[in-house]
Amino acid sequence: MTDTTPPASRAAQILSRPISLNGLTVPNRIVMAPMTRMFSPGGVPGEDVRSYYSRRAAAGVGLIVTEGTYVGHESAGQSDRVPRFHGEEQLAGWAKVAEDVHAAGGTIVPQLWHIGMVRKQGEPPVADAPAVGPSGLVTEGAEPTGKAMTQQDLDDVVAAFARAAADAERIGFDGVELHGAHGYLLDQFLWAGTNRRTDAYGGDAVARTKFSAEIVAAVRAAVSPEFPIIFRFSQWKQQDYAARLAETPEELEAILTPLAAAGVDVFHASTRRYWLPEFDGSDLNLAGWTKKLTGKQVISVGSVGLDGDFINAFQGEGSPVKSIDNLLDRLEADEFDMVAVGRALLQDPEWAAKVLADRFDELKAYDAAALQTLS
Ligand SMILES: Cc1cc2nc3c(=O)[nH]c(=O)nc-3n(C[C@H](O)[C@H](O)[C@H](O)COP(=O)(O)O)c2cc1C
Repeated sequence: MTDTTPPASRAAQILSRPISLNGLTVPNRIVMAPMTRMFSPGGVPGEDVRSYYSRRAAAGVGLIVTEGTYVGHESAGQSDRVPRFHGEEQLAGWAKVAEDVHAAGGTIVPQLWHIGMVRKQGEPPVADAPAVGPSGLVTEGAEPTGKAMTQQDLDDVVAAFARAAADAERIGFDGVELHGAHGYLLDQFLWAGTNRRTDAYGGDAVARTKFSAEIVAAVRAAVSPEFPIIFRFSQWKQQDYAARLAETPEELEAILTPLAAAGVDVFHASTRRYWLPEFDGSDLNLAGWTKKLTGKQVISVGSVGLDGDFINAFQGEGSPVKSIDNLLDRLEADEFDMVAVGRALLQDPEWAAKVLADRFDELKAYDAAALQTLS
């Protein structure tokens, strides 16, 4: 009998390789990036959230990182439509999400989130709760508008993350991602612009990392040794796109080393454009540097599959800078291990299946109107 199966494309060959993250085997290298959708009234993910995630798992996403979901601390969030990762009804909703994603052949981790000083007092779920952070500052140069956390506050938040991680394992998730990026609570500690503390949690890069490292260690102690812990971080902040945690590889290493030592298995280096070099003198992006400096597995992210150029480049017509070849070259060179896709996957649930099957001409361009519905 003649084998009529066409040879796998380069994209399929590189992206289809399974990978083990601690005790978890993920079927391929495509990750769904965490994206807040606010379709969970009362903080409970329902039927529509289940099908939103499971259809993407069925269509070839190897690992789903859920939208940010609040840990059980009164100041963690500021919306009643963002899902919570505490409470009986909320966790029951999440358990069904995990079950459906597994039935579709995928893997899934919740992104555990505390927004810190970004919170506006008066908003749900706990209207009276103050905004809290390292120094009560929402951004660099701001006047204090919230509460500088006491040791008790710090201990409570550490415990809330650990509880959420233990719950994630108990209700069937495959790991957890800790949201240490984009100017939210953990990042407010990491960033000198918002961390003005003079105690052990402020000062140099290592001191600013202490709070996140304590959370990682508490999470590590609360789950099985083989349960993967992903830590997401970024240079950019939603308060300030130009902000940077680290100006040099040495500064980056000072931040990442204690986190790795505390038990992080995988870093998720969040950038807005994956092809941009992070520091002078090397083509490595933030993910590439993170892997080089820590030896840990790393997820890269940022504008994969977003614009017409990218789609054209798949077809050999567009800018080589954004073509998938650049991404594939970096993956093949082991600069990083996996790639997360945000908006392109929000737009097109079939994105991964199309890319893996060489159906690039069927990819849909991103349109912000897709944010209005959960489909
Ligand atoms: C609607 C939307 C919501 C997002 N929510 C989150 C979030 O909850 N947590 C997070 O870490 N990043 C969040 N992000 C950032 C994405 O995870 C991702 O890093 C970013 O969109 C860049 O990837 P992309 O260019 O593939 O979209 C969000 C992005 C979008 C577009």
